[in-house]
Amino acid sequence: MEDDLSEVSVTSGLGTRFIGQRVILYPRLPSTMEVAKKEAQRGADEGTVVIAEEQTAGRGRINRVWFTPKGGLALSVVLYPSMVYLPSLIMVASLAVVHAIAAVTGLQSQVKWPNDVLINGRKVCGILIESGVRGNTVDYAIMGIGINVNLRTSHFTQISLTATSLSDELGREVSRLKLIRKLLVEIERLYLSVQSGGSVYQEWRDSLVTLGRKVGVSLGKIVHEGTAESVAKDGSLLLRCPDGSLTRIPAGDVTLHE
Ligand code: BTN
Repeated sequence: MEDDLSEVSVTSGLGTRFIGQRVILYPRLPSTMEVAKKEAQRGADEGTVVIAEEQTAGRGRINRVWFTPKGGLALSVVLYPSMVYLPSLIMVASLAVVHAIAAVTGLQSQVKWPNDVLINGRKVCGILIESGVRGNTVDYAIMGIGINVNLRTSHFTQISLTATSLSDELGREVSRLKLIRKLLVEIERLYLSVQSGGSVYQEWRDSLVTLGRKVGVSLGKIVHEGTAESVAKDGSLLLRCPDGSLTRIPAGDVTLHE
């Protein structure tokens, strides 16, 4: 499916106040994170979106590579939240993706802590939040979202064992334009809700496949084993360890055991 992701197609009649009111589209780019960061550092409007149809050096969490071949979707959104809202950005992004996928395709997806989106146990979307912080001040935050939309994951050895795509799940292609537009609307709705005192925490918590499961959580060379009991409001995972203690883990990579 050839869809036009130009600024005019994405923004016209979008109905948002600021998210997606400015769009910069690249057919091919090393990483949308870098361009969005430069935009933020030169004071771009909040809600500016950088989209790439293909990335050659996409970045994942924990220094991993994020693979974005043609048919994928990579975007980064420039935000200027205050410090208190920074932990909510992971929740806003993952819920916005779950809602947008459901609205555009009817597919149900779940969140694997902290911010992978899965369909039928396979990863369909990765989220990366990067921020520039000085003392107690957030200069900017970049919300990066990569979704496997129209690609045959079985054709790519890099991801074939763990990933899925929307087209793999549906057996047909999906309009990336519709998906982006719904995603931007959802990001704004949830982001504004958080800023006006609403909470996305409970819904995010309820959408996590991780809770109640035996997991291994790795951060670098350290692996914590236990049962994922809950998440704190700042997004940390609360892990019940075999010795009965409760460990708070701010970030990591989860393997689901059962
Ligand atoms: C992860 O699961 O490790 C996070 C992946 C985040 C990928 C997105 S794609 C858009 C943006 N640009 C990047 O280089 N990375 C993020």
